[in-house]
Amino acid sequence: MSVIRVDNSERAGFETALEELKGFFSELSKEKGRPLTYNLLTYGCQLNESDSEKLAGMLSDMGLEKSSQSGELAPADVVVMNTCSVRENADKHLFGNLGVFKSFCKNGDTSVIAVCGCMMKVPENVNKIKSSYPYVNLVFDPQQLHRFPILLRDAVRKQKLSVSICGEDYIAEDSYFPIERQRRFRALVPIMYGCNNFCTYCIVPYARGRERSRSFSEIMKELEDIASQGYREVMLLGQNVNSYGKGNEDGKTFADILDEASKITEFSRIRFMSSHPKDLSDRVIKIMAERPNVEKHLHLALQSGSDAVLKRMNRPYTAEGYMRIADNFRNMVKGGSLTTDIIVGFPGETEEDFVKTLEICKRAAFDACFTFQYSIRPGTKAAEFPDQIPSDVVTERFGRLTELTNALSEESCKRLVGQTKEVLIEGISKAGNGVYTGRTITNHLVNFTIPDEIRNQEGFCEDSLEGRLCNVDIQYSRPYSVDGVMERFTDGE
Ligand code: SAM
Ligand code: SF4
Ligand code: F3S
Repeated sequence: MSVIRVDNSERAGFETALEELKGFFSELSKEKGRPLTYNLLTYGCQLNESDSEKLAGMLSDMGLEKSSQSGELAPADVVVMNTCSVRENADKHLFGNLGVFKSFCKNGDTSVIAVCGCMMKVPENVNKIKSSYPYVNLVFDPQQLHRFPILLRDAVRKQKLSVSICGEDYIAEDSYFPIERQRRFRALVPIMYGCNNFCTYCIVPYARGRERSRSFSEIMKELEDIASQGYREVMLLGQNVNSYGKGNEDGKTFADILDEASKITEFSRIRFMSSHPKDLSDRVIKIMAERPNVEKHLHLALQSGSDAVLKRMNRPYTAEGYMRIADNFRNMVKGGSLTTDIIVGFPGETEEDFVKTLEICKRAAFDACFTFQYSIRPGTKAAEFPDQIPSDVVTERFGRLTELTNALSEESCKRLVGQTKEVLIEGISKAGNGVYTGRTITNHLVNFTIPDEIRNQEGFCEDSLEGRLCNVDIQYSRPYSVDGVMERFTDGE
């Protein structure tokens, strides 16, 4: 399979298709006697979220408004489902939801349905749509995001299900797309796509294709733009950001991106996701330690504490090797936080293997763990492994692991109590009641109140809090967050 850089010369066709769709939807809007809306459903990781910001930009350019009805199953004239296939429960939603939208198609509330994302790289899913959901208009894969307007225009013209799954791994720069960023405080910036690691349990390399990196200069241009638009936090994305640049000619590495990005002083937070233990360089850790605007948080997936399991997972490190990196990070980035992903019940995992996972979690004192029950992904190597673990054993181990990781996370939160921490404000907390939410540079979630003397200060504006920095006196800890009271703004804005 080849990697193809999308050339801006293709944009003429892209623009024409957007214009045609704009005309088509404008006619439909006249027929329906109201503005047309879209509902974009996004599942999965931040890479999908980032793709959806581009889909949203393209849908807006077609003259559609985001549906004001809340809930994933809100009817809208155009429905786009951006799917995830990483675990079984991630792909369960799709077919149930498609069933619901059938009734919206019948009563005229919905006119166009497109399905994209990682599930579309699994042929069984596409076949099921073909056979049981023929009212879907378009199916396409994540590799062809840059063709969405063209594919949708062709599907609408044909007026029957159009399936476009390609064999190439395209890479388009962000500047190719109109992007409608979903958050005011954080800009998502993918720096690379795909994955070459083929961990034996994981569908991502099949769904997202071969690893390919964006151009260094284009990334830098985008970061400068984002900074000038007022974003204070940037999240650099890739399945394995530490191997950024392989295959590019300029020799730039992920450390170079972090180094340059950290010189953009408008950014108060530079975050990144995900890192793989095999490629994490000391230079990256050094930059994290030295630059005040690079987050002091490393998400480094461990997956298992047993060398035998790691080997069968095709994760090329040992538990001790992982601990060396963890210790190095803790020594170099003082007060930093370390989080991880763990899979329980991988084929052949014995009680002894599992106990090793518990032990390493305690040793590494993770600040937070994302724990998953192993889910068979058809098409991956591990799906064929013997010794799949019975579900009652997996559930029991998962319970023990969750108990431990909850306690570790609670400990991590407790350590913050009594300290003043700088927080980047993300908005009003889900709890409401005048409570705001934000994160420390170590990615701890902080809920806080704002005292009246700050609210009454001249220039205080409730609507422009997102993205601002403030000091919070941390007074109370919960299992996954801390509570506090704002002391003052620290960004001088
Ligand atoms: N590229 C990232 C890395 O290696 O750190 C991981 C990205 S993946 C989208 C997020 C997590 O999902 C993985 O770290 C793994 O723990 C989990 N995961 C992936 N495939 C899984 C499966 N088949 N069953 C259970 N968990 C899975
Ligand atoms: Fe999946 Fe492994 Fe690639 Fe992460 S590094 S996306 S777990 S194959
Ligand atoms: Fe899911 Fe695809 Fe991300 S499988 S986790 S949306 S890369």
